[in-house]
Amino acid sequence: MGFSPKYSCASTRLEAQGSDLWAVHTDAMAQLEAGADIIMMSVGDPDLPTIERIIEHAVTSLYRGRTHYSPGMGELHLRETIAEIETQASGKLTTPDQVIVFPGATNAVFSTLSCLLDADDELIVVEPAYVGYEGIFSTIGSAVIRIPALADQGFAVDTEAIRAAITDRTRVLLLNTPGNPAGNIIPEDQLRSLSELCYDRDIWLVCDEVYSMITFEHKHISARKAANTLENIIVIDGLSKSHAMTGWRLGWAVAPAAVAQRLLSFTSATVFGCSQFIQDAAAFAMKNDGEYIQGITQEYRERRDYACKRIREIDGLNCQVPQAGMFLMIDVSAVSPDGFQFARALLDEQGVSVLPGEGFGEITRQFVRLSLTHPVKVLDQAFARIEAYVRNLP
Ligand SMILES: Cc1ncc(COP(=O)(O)O)c(C=O)c1O
Repeated sequence: MGFSPKYSCASTRLEAQGSDLWAVHTDAMAQLEAGADIIMMSVGDPDLPTIERIIEHAVTSLYRGRTHYSPGMGELHLRETIAEIETQASGKLTTPDQVIVFPGATNAVFSTLSCLLDADDELIVVEPAYVGYEGIFSTIGSAVIRIPALADQGFAVDTEAIRAAITDRTRVLLLNTPGNPAGNIIPEDQLRSLSELCYDRDIWLVCDEVYSMITFEHKHISARKAANTLENIIVIDGLSKSHAMTGWRLGWAVAPAAVAQRLLSFTSATVFGCSQFIQDAAAFAMKNDGEYIQGITQEYRERRDYACKRIREIDGLNCQVPQAGMFLMIDVSAVSPDGFQFARALLDEQGVSVLPGEGFGEITRQFVRLSLTHPVKVLDQAFARIEAYVRNLP
């Protein structure tokens, strides 16, 4: 008689998630590691290094002995820095007791949704949506109501469709602005009416804003700035994308103080505080990032413009110009049955790895997502290969 393993429902739901989405990417990584000439455009990890001054600050902090347990809410000086920035961004006084630090925005979203949802509740999410949410949804197990964005309007959020989808069981509306993968920004008046709609119907509005600092023509507007009342609003942000600090794992939530206390209980049970030296470096980064953010935004904007120009020159491919972030969605419907087959063949024939759009929702099944995580010089090579692949199609 052997051991017969039994797992939780959450773990079983997670395992049941399709792994096809990452199949092309995983294959590309394996080929790259084996020395093949692959251009990776399937993942959202900035190619730019974390700037040296931030690294130096973290190292100094380590030598200063900042290697101990940290309060569950996060270091006070970091929460004060975030609260100050949030006060400016929202125009509403924000205090450190409304700020709680997590090891990354993903963990902030997971912790937040875990505190707000039960398995028999409903969550509304707009698609296309960040693929990382799927694992969170599976773990929590509540019903997910997927509302397609308006594809022909730059993937704008459809307020009326959200209104129509609300039921007595709806507990959370999860928004992401600027959006991954489409790079769309939800306008202030729409955010305001969505926050009012949520408030009136006793629904939490959780807004993931991790691309808030990488915007092009229009400035990002936070849900906390747009909303008239903040009682039901939780905003999540982090340093992964804006400061090229994905590996540092630093994010936060800004929420009413009572909600922050709930989040504290949850994170105390799961994470038990983030690293002190990383929080020191994060606060330093946020206090000294003016020029850096301008530079990084300019760099992504140049890459976006270059990529859009090259896509327009390829017969059969189309893209909508993203307003923010580091991704670009390419419509491949004229040349391929779906994004998955396009991505598979592009890797096999030309060594370029992109992400099939179906991972972000049914609405983007005929798209692929390309990450702008290479300088223009490499984008030039990537598009030469993409062009050759499309030209050779029957
Ligand atoms: C919308 C969105 N939220 C959260 C994350 C993850 O952020 P973090 O690295 O802080 O966990 C990503 C990363 O791609 C993202 O696109």
